[in-house]
Amino acid sequence: MDFPTIRPRRLRRSASLRRMVRETELGPGRLIYPMFVTHGKGVRNEIRSMPGCAQLSVDLLVQEAREAHAAGVPGVILFGIPARKDATGSEGYARDGIVPQAIRALKDALPDLLVWGDVCLCEYTDHGHCGVIRNGNVDNDATLPLLAKAATVYAEAGADVIAPSDMMDGRVGAIREALDDEGFSEVAICSYAAKYASAFYGPFREAAESAPQFGDRRAYQMDPPNALEALREVALDIDEGADIVMVKPALAYLDVIRRVRDEFDVPVAAYNVSGEFSMIKAAAAAGWIDEKRVAAEVLLSIRRAGADIILTYFAKDAAEILREHRS
Ligand code: PBG
Repeated sequence: MDFPTIRPRRLRRSASLRRMVRETELGPGRLIYPMFVTHGKGVRNEIRSMPGCAQLSVDLLVQEAREAHAAGVPGVILFGIPARKDATGSEGYARDGIVPQAIRALKDALPDLLVWGDVCLCEYTDHGHCGVIRNGNVDNDATLPLLAKAATVYAEAGADVIAPSDMMDGRVGAIREALDDEGFSEVAICSYAAKYASAFYGPFREAAESAPQFGDRRAYQMDPPNALEALREVALDIDEGADIVMVKPALAYLDVIRRVRDEFDVPVAAYNVSGEFSMIKAAAAAGWIDEKRVAAEVLLSIRRAGADIILTYFAKDAAEILREHRS
């Protein structure tokens, strides 16, 4: 049977018909809001390249997390801005570091809010790399105990999910073992399993003050043309004990999200990264696109590709963004 008998437009005629046959639904309940926490009180340092996002001191962080939670967002992921940086990133795994302080305050004020702790050293090292440097290289095995330490410190502070973003080999296993040894067997791990060496992280590096001071991250993050390698990374991380696996960035890697979703049976997260956010903000500010509609379309594309969880800087406004999409 063919046209004129078949007319796909019949089911697009009204908002009610479109809603009835809609294949992908997305609400704020699947979103995680990335936040930047800094020392001090009453501090709000706006991030120039990420309009609406700011480095917040713990008091203001709690306020903003409360708003996001009230809008239906179940959780946040924290990135810390340390008071001091050094060669081994020691504030990254200090018990009284800025992230453990923030985790405690959030759990205290908002016990139902899920708190994810991003585990990586790049915000805390003076050279800006994601591990310790030996002979000009990031030393994989020397970095593992530091990441494991950061994970246990976050767990002790009350984190629900530990999210290692460093891309060292074997870090999920090292973190799982350390958590279990310290009595945190119930704390989940979401590994940044397929994390690419991407130019889309540009604005984040301003936000987190984490740009590498020499070289780049291509010797540890994945090469963008590779997809089979992503499946291998994901399989390894699941074997090592990852409960959730992440693909990052999201938009230029929707095919990878789909392949991971089809091949594995654990929840898949995708990170709608800073560059993806800032491009929309900039084009909208220039009057070239409709910000809310584009944001909804992008978030839905990530969901349609197969992501169960989306980390996005739009999370705070998502209830509104997605409501408009539904009509
Ligand atoms: C730290 C980290 C990065 C991001 C999340 N964790 C930056 C990087 O790897 O350079 C990027 C997030 C974003 O761009 O929104 N390793």
